[in-house]
Amino acid sequence: MKKSLILVGTQWGDEGKGKIVDFYSKKFDAVCRFQGGHNAGHTIYKEDEKFVLHLIPSGVFYDHVSCFIGQGVILSIDSLLEEIKQLEEKGIELEGKLRISRYCSLLLPLHAKIDQLREDNKNSIGTTRRGIGPAYEDKTARRSIKAFDLEDKDLLEKKLRSLVEYYNFQIKNIHDSEPFSYDDVYKDLIESYKQASKYFGDVTDTLENIYDEGGNILYEGAQGTLLDVDYGTYPYVTSSNTLATSVGIGSGFPKSIYSDVLGIAKAYTTRVGAGPFPTELFCETGERIAKLGHEFGATTGRPRRCGWLDLLALKKAVFTNSVTDICLTKLDIMDEFNSIEVCIDYQGNQPVYKTFEGWQSSTEGITEFKNLPLKAQEYINFIEDFVGCNISIVSTGPSREE
Ligand code: GDP
Ligand code: IMO
Ligand code: MG
Repeated sequence: MKKSLILVGTQWGDEGKGKIVDFYSKKFDAVCRFQGGHNAGHTIYKEDEKFVLHLIPSGVFYDHVSCFIGQGVILSIDSLLEEIKQLEEKGIELEGKLRISRYCSLLLPLHAKIDQLREDNKNSIGTTRRGIGPAYEDKTARRSIKAFDLEDKDLLEKKLRSLVEYYNFQIKNIHDSEPFSYDDVYKDLIESYKQASKYFGDVTDTLENIYDEGGNILYEGAQGTLLDVDYGTYPYVTSSNTLATSVGIGSGFPKSIYSDVLGIAKAYTTRVGAGPFPTELFCETGERIAKLGHEFGATTGRPRRCGWLDLLALKKAVFTNSVTDICLTKLDIMDEFNSIEVCIDYQGNQPVYKTFEGWQSSTEGITEFKNLPLKAQEYINFIEDFVGCNISIVSTGPSREE
């Protein structure tokens, strides 16, 4: 039987997951998102064309790959339809290829609005302002509109009316802002669902069938380990469990846990939004990494904070996700530096660095380890030894071939 794979970010997101999912999809029968929502921004270069996916699994560019959105994902139907439209304009047909769990909790415009109002207040953490936090709150508080509720008009009306009331109370009384009209919310939701209903179905049984027939499934994580609501830098985290261990619940397919785990790590570290980042660089070097790495958010366009690779954090990520292999991305961004540092310890809150001499030659597009500059090989070998995990793939450019 072919082995399934869970692919997760080991840092604060944007490690290059989209690129690697696309790269691996060739060998998989299905790709499934299992948590997060359209806060994710996964970039893929197909030939020279750039795609940024937010909800649709990054395996979508292969004809043979079936795409799934599991019940752990918070679903904005509007964002989904927008993404489908953009893909269809480029000739990628989603009907018959994409299946979304009927158990997904829905993200509505009122979630985005309350997220934005809260972010505009003094307790901002720098969210993507998409409504992810409030939508997960509703799920845990048992208030969510589930996709299957859209099939029962009476129940939907009852649930939606009370949800709109709940948010309008906060919007008016806490934020002194314009409330939603229930009729508009209802009408818009029904309208969107009409266009999207053909994509909903059973994900659990379908994944099980693929698995039972000997197929393999790639589970595409969003965000990253340090943004996990339980294991991350709380409260500066996202509102879902981003770890590989949440795959069983999020995909809706229990046997998904019997997969290998590929942890994606950038050769340096980035973070968007507020929160601790011990190896952050506030000097010219940080700006240089940002410039060379084009470190701007794929979802919000915000500049990403940059710093050196933190090997203690990576080692912890290997442990918390039960990572079986690491994929090191964006090695090419380090090509020009005359020295490269990695954090190997902490003294109090201060990182202790080991300094590597830079290789100062291009690694772009090199596809064999032995062809990498020796100093780059040393850097990779050191990381492997330190974190005690095999680096089985190195990425040296944004395109599939690199
Ligand atoms: P994701 O959220 O983890 O999928 O990552 P993003 O797409 O948000 O950000 C990663 C960025 O780095 C994207 O612009 C990718 O095209 C780019 N990228 C991925 N891997 C590499 C690589 O090895 N080298 C370079 N130079 N760029 C890469
Ligand atoms: P991908 O999948 C990087 C960050 C936000 C903010 C925090 C909470 O592309 O790696 P949220 O909107 O989720 O409530 O914001 O989480 N964040 C991400 N940072 N990459 C992402 O996704 C992110 N998704 C959320 O910047 O700090
Ligand atoms: Mg991203």
